[in-house]
Amino acid sequence: MKSFNRYLFHKIGILPAVPVCNALLNGLVKKRMFESMWRFHTDMLSRGMVSNFVTYGVLIDGCCGQCDVLKARSLFDEMVEKGIEPTVVIYTILIRGLCNESQMTEAENMFKLMRDSGVLPNVYTYSALIDGYCKMADIKRALNLYQDMLRNNLLPNVVIFGCLINGLCKVGELRSARNFFVYMAKFGVVPNIYLYNCLIDSHCKAGNLSEATGLCSEMTKFEITPDVYTYSILIKGLCSEGRVKEADDLLQKMNKEGVCANAVTYNSLIDGYCKAGYMEKALNVCSQMTKKGVEPNVITFSSLIDGHCKAGNMETALSLYLEMIIKSLVPDVVAYTALIDGHCKDGKMKEALRLHKEMLEAGLTPNVFTISCLIDGLCKDGKISDAIELFLEKTDKTNGGFCSPNHVMYTSIIQALCNDGRIFKASKFFSDMRFDGLRPDVITYVVMLQGHFQAKHMPDVMMLHADMIKMGIMPNAVTNEVLASGYQEK
Ligand SMILES: *[C@@H]1O[C@H](CO)[C@@H](O)[C@H](O)[C@H]1NC(C)=O
Ligand SMILES: *[C@@H]1O[C@H](CO)[C@@H](O)[C@H](O)[C@H]1NC(C)=O
Repeated sequence: MKSFNRYLFHKIGILPAVPVCNALLNGLVKKRMFESMWRFHTDMLSRGMVSNFVTYGVLIDGCCGQCDVLKARSLFDEMVEKGIEPTVVIYTILIRGLCNESQMTEAENMFKLMRDSGVLPNVYTYSALIDGYCKMADIKRALNLYQDMLRNNLLPNVVIFGCLINGLCKVGELRSARNFFVYMAKFGVVPNIYLYNCLIDSHCKAGNLSEATGLCSEMTKFEITPDVYTYSILIKGLCSEGRVKEADDLLQKMNKEGVCANAVTYNSLIDGYCKAGYMEKALNVCSQMTKKGVEPNVITFSSLIDGHCKAGNMETALSLYLEMIIKSLVPDVVAYTALIDGHCKDGKMKEALRLHKEMLEAGLTPNVFTISCLIDGLCKDGKISDAIELFLEKTDKTNGGFCSPNHVMYTSIIQALCNDGRIFKASKFFSDMRFDGLRPDVITYVVMLQGHFQAKHMPDVMMLHADMIKMGIMPNAVTNEVLASGYQEK
């Protein structure tokens, strides 16, 4: 473009007409060569050419493409000042740019200005606004605009239906989204695969698999063939309902239909098998994947590591972890947490803490579950002060802590303190736990009662006993035994 620019102005020596220059400017905007666009425009002006409404439209479009709506607006004002009437196309470009930047109030003002100036909005104007509102999940206003456009005798197109259906799906209004298919037919608009995938995905996420599979067979009636996204959505949906066998059948079906599964598809099925505890099947899918030339990624490894850890097979989990390191893949929070949890359960605290350190060094933020595993592991290992230190460090939100204390953390610490005879400190954690709105379980009440009996704190025993009843914890054989023998000793 640059050399062409020079050629146009210098070599020929004749001035091209403004429409030719506008076409070139537009080409530069479409190619997103914004700097060249400005340079070319300056060149035009320096040669005495005058921008017309098309030039302004293209430049405003360029500003919006660069996300500079302020500049777009000032160009708009400049053209109005020069007495050039903005057309529907120019208004629409500016409205679309504003909607793209979520400046809906500004967009509405422009829309109003346009109508007040007697310029009628077209389908693209409505489409820009409806898209903007759907992206902001303001479906009500989007539907208003849709009604408004129908009143103005404009026919909605597939893009508008797409925005509305997608928007309705996002806010969980599946029935209304589905109803739009009926309206579409009325306007002679044929649904496309994007719309079907959107609806199928939403129904899967809502756990309505029968409707999702129904939609899938319906789309084939419109001669729309399911693509890799459709299959991936359904496979994931089936897996999350534990219907792994059917998900696997679907993968075989898609292979037969010649639709190539991608990493997302394979990962869903692998994760499904791992969560269901079928580790051999999971590895089998993993080798199918490799055979088809799809490389296992971090997510694949995480699922496998998590599955093996939960199955108590730390050896395989660790070898997968090493394989990841060799492949220069950085394990994610799921993988690290699974390994840490596995090591903690095996009482290998040194290794668990090393992994925790490594994960922090990799820039990952552990989650609540990672921290609870470590605290529980440390308590069981008799390292109560380390556990308490970790607890305070991670839950002190005023000091860089990030997680809310949970049931496991409190229960582990309270039980460890009681077993260690430190009933005073345990009481402190117990009241903090209650203060945080957590409900201690029956075992925690029992260890606390035992602790108070041993320390001969009878008022505390009675208060705790009353609190237990108030919390609706049913006395069972163990509590009765502890209470009976405790009171008897007194
Ligand atoms: C919308 O915004 C993105 C960046 O957020 C920009 O790249 C794109 O060109 C904009 N599109 C329009 C039509 O303004
Ligand atoms: C599934 O979706 C269909 C259509 O929206 C609805 O009629 C049906 O009641 C839904 N089923 C369940 C179990 O939610």
